[in-house]
Amino acid sequence: MKELSLHILDLVENSVKAGAKLIEITVTEKISDNIISFEIKDNGCGMDKEFLENVVNPFTTTRTTRKVGLGIPLTKLACEQAGGSFHIESTPGEGTYLKAAFMYDHIDRQPLGDIKSTVLTLITMREATDFIYTHTVNDKDFKLDTRELKEILGGVPFNEPDVRNWLNEYLGENIESLYN
Ligand SMILES: Nc1ncnc2c1ncn2[C@@H]1O[C@H](COP(=O)(O)OP(=O)(O)OP(=O)(O)O)[C@@H](O)[C@H]1O
Ligand SMILES: [Mg+2]
Repeated sequence: MKELSLHILDLVENSVKAGAKLIEITVTEKISDNIISFEIKDNGCGMDKEFLENVVNPFTTTRTTRKVGLGIPLTKLACEQAGGSFHIESTPGEGTYLKAAFMYDHIDRQPLGDIKSTVLTLITMREATDFIYTHTVNDKDFKLDTRELKEILGGVPFNEPDVRNWLNEYLGENIESLYN
């Protein structure tokens, strides 16, 4: 994994597998604090204390297709390699919260990558799940809540080509404007 957005894509897949109905993704870039971080909060099945303590270990997985689970260990490694920190907490039956933080100017800090495509992919491929995406860059922020979008669209799916194109442009323009 070479981009933070790909870590996000991977970790959100854990939340989907955990049966989450609502997933909150928060990206925060605060250059004055030399920090870039992302947070993922879900209301899925959660993990018990013992499982959670071992989840940063690659051999902890409930996958049945292979014996290693790399999503969480690779994200933790990326944090540590960039002078940052990784935090995860979870409550069975309630959900899971994680935060990955990185030193903004660290030479080994992975770039954010194509976060627009990551968000677009998630919301169009996982339409049964609701997402709140919040992206802050210094003093500017952008927030998207798929529950509000669904209400506006009145049942027209995100995957409908015109809707998808509109979403692509909407996300692109709003994310880009955070940097201007
Ligand atoms: N948000 C979550 N809610 C509930 N369980 C989770 C969550 N995230 C991870 N887990 C549990 O932790 C295990 C390890 O997650 P991790 O992402 O490291 O590997 P994986 O998903 O098993 O495999 P990979 O990510 O390599 O496909 C998962 O198999 C799952 O049981
Ligand atoms: Mg995973």
